[in-house]
Amino acid sequence: MAEMNFSERLALHGGPRAKRTPIAPRKRHGEREKQLLNEVIDADVLFYYFGTKVRELERRFATLYGRRHAIACSSGTAAVHMAVAALRLPPGSEVITSAITDMGSVTGILYQGLVPVFADVEAETLNMDPSSVRERITARTGAILVVHHAGLAANLDALADVARERGLPLIEDCAQAYGCTYHGEPVGRRGVLSSFSLNHFKHITCGSGGMVLTDEDQLRYFCSLFLDKCYQREEGVRNPFFLAPNYQMTELQAAVALAQLEKLPEIVERRSSLGVRLDQHLRRIPGVHPQLTPPGCRHSYFLYLFRLDLAALRCTAEEFASALNAEGVPARARLITGGRPVYLYDIFQNRSAFPGSRYPFYSLDTGADRVYRRGDCPAAEAAFSQWLTIEMAEHYTETDIDEFALGIGKVAWHYRKRAAA
Ligand SMILES: Cc1ncc(COP(=O)(O)O)c(C=O)c1O
Repeated sequence: MAEMNFSERLALHGGPRAKRTPIAPRKRHGEREKQLLNEVIDADVLFYYFGTKVRELERRFATLYGRRHAIACSSGTAAVHMAVAALRLPPGSEVITSAITDMGSVTGILYQGLVPVFADVEAETLNMDPSSVRERITARTGAILVVHHAGLAANLDALADVARERGLPLIEDCAQAYGCTYHGEPVGRRGVLSSFSLNHFKHITCGSGGMVLTDEDQLRYFCSLFLDKCYQREEGVRNPFFLAPNYQMTELQAAVALAQLEKLPEIVERRSSLGVRLDQHLRRIPGVHPQLTPPGCRHSYFLYLFRLDLAALRCTAEEFASALNAEGVPARARLITGGRPVYLYDIFQNRSAFPGSRYPFYSLDTGADRVYRRGDCPAAEAAFSQWLTIEMAEHYTETDIDEFALGIGKVAWHYRKRAAA
């Protein structure tokens, strides 16, 4: 790092790119996936209930996390929906979640007729701020849905304290947080239910897939019905007694997910070490601040996040990201939500979850009347102009990381110089 020359002309202005070596192509699936897929085809059963792979995947997931039950489903959105539905809250109840998350954290809340309430984030981690969660608790609050954003554990002790004080169940959305730990424990062990995603972008993937963990037999049973139209297959009874979608995982998805799960420890190890390396570089670059990893946490770097000191750099996050892209660094502004907190999406602003009605935001039946306003979560709103994201991947080399740091150092140096002129 000492030899890095930040004062070289920016690539944006015709200088040499900081990323001198190309990023190698990524190969995520191979012989093991093919072998397990072949086993499924040879067995000639793709339906989870008659097959073996979904059950095996569930067993392995439960063992990995030390939970009694794992229930596989078709996506992370389905997993959150299943977890929320399993609480059987009356429609109109409020579920507190993060202002910065994927829509998949919220979709299931709305489908159950529940009202999402968005907590602000901590300025240095972008995870849910426990004091904001506490402020949002009302007589209507039914649950807290914690999101571990970007591969960094939320403040679980403080959030669990809030939940315990108020007698509220805690769900953990671990879609982005495979392998990240909180005080030495992997996240996903605290929630009465915890959910995971296996979509394309996650540490491990089977194209689309999800998982719910719980220790409670009753909740496992509810989930098993909820993902399957409330058909009581275990009893051989077909007499649905509540509304449930079809969120089945197929044997094909499970075969790929099983192969991926075998690779997870190595993927997490690699991402963590690359992320820590980039952190070390960025701590030495004036004008940028890596996301804070609180003591006792291991970040598993679904994404690498860093914050710009806008007073020192006097540029927009978009400008900084464009300059980085010209340097060959895969950075972007706007975080995971496309540039605004979730509650500023049209669906919340227009209260249009179910077109033609304002349910569940407004309902004479439930007494709900929730309006979402700019200014609701100031730290989350401010984050979009300050933070940048770098796509992380386990196949990056140390040289890739060092060249990303060089690019960030160069761009920061130039903007600081311009600001001081
Ligand atoms: C935090 C979080 N929750 C839920 C989801 C939904 O997962 P899926 O895309 O598998 O439906 C995602 C996906 O990006 C996510 O990041």
